[in-house]
Amino acid sequence: MKIEQLDVGQGLILAPIAGVTGLPFRKIAKGCGADLVFTEMISAAALIRNPRRSETYFMSRDDARPVAAQIFGADPHEMAHAAAFLSEEPVDLIDINMGCPVKKVIRSGAGAALLQDRPRASAIIRAVVRASRIPVTVKLRSGWDASEICAVEIAQAAEAEGVSAVTLHPRTRTQAFQGRSNWEHIRQVKEAVKIPVIGNGDVQTPADAKRMLLQTGCDGVMIGRAALGNPWIFSRIRAFLMTGEALPPPDPQTIMRTLIEHLTLEASLVGEARAVLRMRKFAAWYARGLHGAARFRHRVNGVTGYAEFCETAQDYFSMLTLQSDVTEPCHGRKQTPVV
Ligand SMILES: Cc1cc2nc3c(=O)[nH]c(=O)nc-3n(C[C@H](O)[C@H](O)[C@H](O)COP(=O)(O)O)c2cc1C
Repeated sequence: MKIEQLDVGQGLILAPIAGVTGLPFRKIAKGCGADLVFTEMISAAALIRNPRRSETYFMSRDDARPVAAQIFGADPHEMAHAAAFLSEEPVDLIDINMGCPVKKVIRSGAGAALLQDRPRASAIIRAVVRASRIPVTVKLRSGWDASEICAVEIAQAAEAEGVSAVTLHPRTRTQAFQGRSNWEHIRQVKEAVKIPVIGNGDVQTPADAKRMLLQTGCDGVMIGRAALGNPWIFSRIRAFLMTGEALPPPDPQTIMRTLIEHLTLEASLVGEARAVLRMRKFAAWYARGLHGAARFRHRVNGVTGYAEFCETAQDYFSMLTLQSDVTEPCHGRKQTPVV
């Protein structure tokens, strides 16, 4: 997959997730096979008010690229300003958020509110494309509600304004994250535009990714929730697409090394004390489905120092390794179904 001149490999993409897809997790996902990673959404207004305060959201390194910096806002001038600023930073794409369902964002006229205000949506896209020196993409939902499905019209308008790719999460704003995403909308958008289309929504396994590609014809697959604590999903999808092979889930030692690498990356950004707090939710995700995960979560939540965090992780995952030596081949984790 290519977005303009940018090589996006097989189009396996880490979704923007607020509070999660900071530089440490983006780097880990990249190391586990993601072809492109997204920052969480960045307020254009906050960015132009004080760019250095927003820097933690978009800072990058070579081993965490290519990266798309996602911005949100309701004012075309602010959005253009933010895009011009970011296109001088080490990022590869500017993505416009047109899907966030959160009330505070909607009330400001941004995110999914733009699905109901086409003139403003077009003005924002036009301004951002003009101001940006790197390719611009748009991530949207199917529409405001079931009676107002507008993904095809918005994708066509975005293409006409010079956008280089679109991502569709085919749920409506009123659905938020309920129900199933409707992949048929991805197929319709793919048929309606010439620019690359990235499909998103409910891809949990390598087989889901293959099904989405086949059913919709989309060029890339974006994965959000299924990558939490499970960045290996990218290499597992790649293997499955290329050879049909269902790779086994990672063993406990691999999970432990990744968890500690993740902690170390966080610590280098925000210091050890804050990193340990931030890593509580990630630790819970890395241990999800493993034997004794609840007790491990409980222990991690009581940890305050970096060394103690590492020791707790080593104790827990070594115990799982010992168990899995006896109970092979499941490594203690319920096998993720591949088909
Ligand atoms: C906690 C959370 C935070 C999210 N933050 C963002 C965001 O900042 N920007 C965005 O475009 N989408 C955001 N999303 C939506 C995801 O990018 C994705 O579209 C959605 O989760 C569907 O994909 P999935 O089924 O693979 O998770 C968020 C989703 C969740 C669950």
